[in-house]
Amino acid sequence: MATAQLRNPEPAIVAVQLNKVLKRFGDAIALHEVSLKIHQGEFITLLGPSGCGKTTLLKLMAGVVEADTGEVFIDGQRLGELAPHEREIGLVLQNNTLLPHMNVAQNIGYDLHRRGVAQAEIAERVEQALTIVKLPGFGQRNPQELSGGQQQRVALARALVIRPKVLLLDEPFSTLDKGLRLSMHNELKDIQRRLGVTTVFVTHEQSEALSMSDRVVVMCAGHVLQIGTPDTLYRRPRDPFVASFVGDVNILAGRYLSRDDRVVLAMADITLRLPAEQVHAEVGARVNIYVRPESIRLAPLGPDTLLSATVVSHVFQGDHVDIHLDVPALGQNRLFVRQSGPDALTRWPVGCAAGLSFASEGICAFAAAVLPIP
Ligand SMILES: Nc1ncnc2c1ncn2[C@@H]1O[C@H](COP(=O)(O)OP(=O)(O)OP(=O)(O)O)[C@@H](O)[C@H]1O
Ligand SMILES: [Mg+2]
Repeated sequence: MATAQLRNPEPAIVAVQLNKVLKRFGDAIALHEVSLKIHQGEFITLLGPSGCGKTTLLKLMAGVVEADTGEVFIDGQRLGELAPHEREIGLVLQNNTLLPHMNVAQNIGYDLHRRGVAQAEIAERVEQALTIVKLPGFGQRNPQELSGGQQQRVALARALVIRPKVLLLDEPFSTLDKGLRLSMHNELKDIQRRLGVTTVFVTHEQSEALSMSDRVVVMCAGHVLQIGTPDTLYRRPRDPFVASFVGDVNILAGRYLSRDDRVVLAMADITLRLPAEQVHAEVGARVNIYVRPESIRLAPLGPDTLLSATVVSHVFQGDHVDIHLDVPALGQNRLFVRQSGPDALTRWPVGCAAGLSFASEGICAFAAAVLPIP
């Protein structure tokens, strides 16, 4: 019987490549030999705490900052060999960078003008860009006559009008209030999908990174700790910093007891059996066990209860409730458990006793001696 021929998917085209890029400011190293490949059409987010090197990495890709060692390639060409106008990179920064003495259309068309594009074509492309960012007809306004959100849309239009190979966005909506920020994110994602433009987005908000990105680059102190899809980073963190920075987590002390088909960990009075790929330690090691709040189940106390707890408080979050618990067997540690559904508050009132059990999914462990990079 003839078997169907399985074709390999087309190999992804690399749009941006960084090879061991190192950047110093004086004696301090802002980026430690960072290597990264970004595929054409991808939406990549650089995620990490303040000062970890996100803006520096973005500026290196834009060619605004030069690496001390290592190389940056855009579309296979070494960045340093391209003149600034040949780089075709759209850059949007955090703060409004519109030129105040030019109107919106002049701001957006400025880079085209500098490249010698004909006036009629500039006018057409500016209007197209304004339509993309949902500001048609705003060309004659002055930047001062726009709201913060509109100004950042104009900045986005200015980056898009050059038809960039790569769009680089450094916390472009961070000054906007939460509601507007969310709607701008949806619009950005929509625009990015429609145009298929390779996009690198910077944020220190894990929820933004998880909701928008094809892949996320988690950074800490100038190092890239892990690169992966939001799902992989959340479910299979390879580093304790990633486990605690991406998503909410309880961190509990335990010990690696033994290994058969699974790894057996001791935690308080109970044992957990986890798939080996979720445990990053050796037999006998003290471990920190990272438990997602939705991986803990509550049940009424009964003869099967292995670990008992008392409800201390609730944090109502609209679509879910975080229930904080005292667990005497865990000493000072308090646990929080995430429950969806409107009845969580009444099912588990403050003062109520409950038995705890743990799903193996959503739990990982790291050797306690492995400290996150400071
Ligand atoms: N021009 C500069 N001169 C000296 N040090 C700098 C310069 N630019 C950045 N740094 C330092 O490099 C490190 C990384 O800075 P960077 O701006 O890339 O961080 P970031 O991740 O973007 O932070 P934030 O989230 O606060 O914007 C920081 O320690 C910062 O103080
Ligand atoms: Mg920054």
